[in-house]
Amino acid sequence: MRIISGIQPTGKIHIGNYLGAIKQWLELQKKEDCIFFIADLHSLTCPYEPKDLKESIIEAAICYLAAGIDPEKSIFFTQSDVPEHTRLAWIFNTVCPIGELERMTQFKEKSKQFRKNINAGLLTYPVLQAADILLYKAGAVPVGKDQVQHIELTRTIARRFNQKFGQTFSEPRAILSEGSKIMSLTDPKKKMSKSSDPNNCISLFEEPEAIRKKIMSAVTDTGKTVKYSPKTKPGISNLITIYSLFSEKSVKEIESNYKEKGYAEFKKDLADIIITSLQPFREKRKEFLSNKNQVIQILKSGAEKAKKIAERTISEVNQKIGINL
Ligand code: ADP
Ligand code: TRP
Repeated sequence: MRIISGIQPTGKIHIGNYLGAIKQWLELQKKEDCIFFIADLHSLTCPYEPKDLKESIIEAAICYLAAGIDPEKSIFFTQSDVPEHTRLAWIFNTVCPIGELERMTQFKEKSKQFRKNINAGLLTYPVLQAADILLYKAGAVPVGKDQVQHIELTRTIARRFNQKFGQTFSEPRAILSEGSKIMSLTDPKKKMSKSSDPNNCISLFEEPEAIRKKIMSAVTDTGKTVKYSPKTKPGISNLITIYSLFSEKSVKEIESNYKEKGYAEFKKDLADIIITSLQPFREKRKEFLSNKNQVIQILKSGAEKAKKIAERTISEVNQKIGINL
């Protein structure tokens, strides 16, 4: 099966993203035909600084390569390097009902957030996303919950296209991240997120001292017993989940190891485990940072592979819609 997913060139990845989503991509990459790309054209719909965009694209590529996307196994490229995405998006614009676009939650939220810049790209964003997916005839799309609506619209567009021009696309399904939900370190009732206070989350590339500081000051209850009980002890339970996922020890095992010890000792060990687990990511990132040309090369060669598939679909589509002379 072919799998595809796009990544916005914004923000840093945190251990919540890693444990909740990226780890699953790395599993998929082992056995399926995977395509991952940096959705730079999508990012143009929100305010940005043109002089910083190139760096953000490279930075995002480095983060995902360091996190484990393997260009030998998966196709990895930048969306704007394969112009077939926008060609197909235009054609899809002509079969996509405008009412469906206006109902999209992301469109409504972004229009509120960027009141002064409600551009047409914000509205047609999901049409480009449908093109990203159907251009490669992908069967499944690993995404977060917030993107499910866009995958449903992709299915609608595929159906409409097929009805009008004959069977061309099958309908892809969303694969929802199954990993545990990691909660904020400062407010364990909220999810860990890059868009709230920096102490709430640990970046995948965080330096050891910062990791230690954030874990030692993570919010817990006033109790002492290291016990997993998300309802009554959300803070310590979240830390146990993180401990368990990084150490591959069961919750029971952790509880029994720390029965006699208090929170402080547990936190100290947890910080050590995270520091050691993230070390390979930090090192890989530094290697790529000092060799950005290699990263650009990886993206360019990924784009060439993607283009081969994309051109086949565009030529089939052009023929079906009647513009192939
Ligand atoms: P953020 O909320 O930090 O901006 P995104 O919305 O960009 O993160 O999420 C990217 C992916 O990471 C999604 O698949 C989402 O399900 C997953 N993810 C984000 N935050 C968490 C979390 N705290 N715990 C588990 N998975 C998460
Ligand atoms: N819209 C997605 C997000 O914000 C990114 C994206 C663009 C995407 N094109 C895609 C995801 C195609 C999956 C498939 O996260």
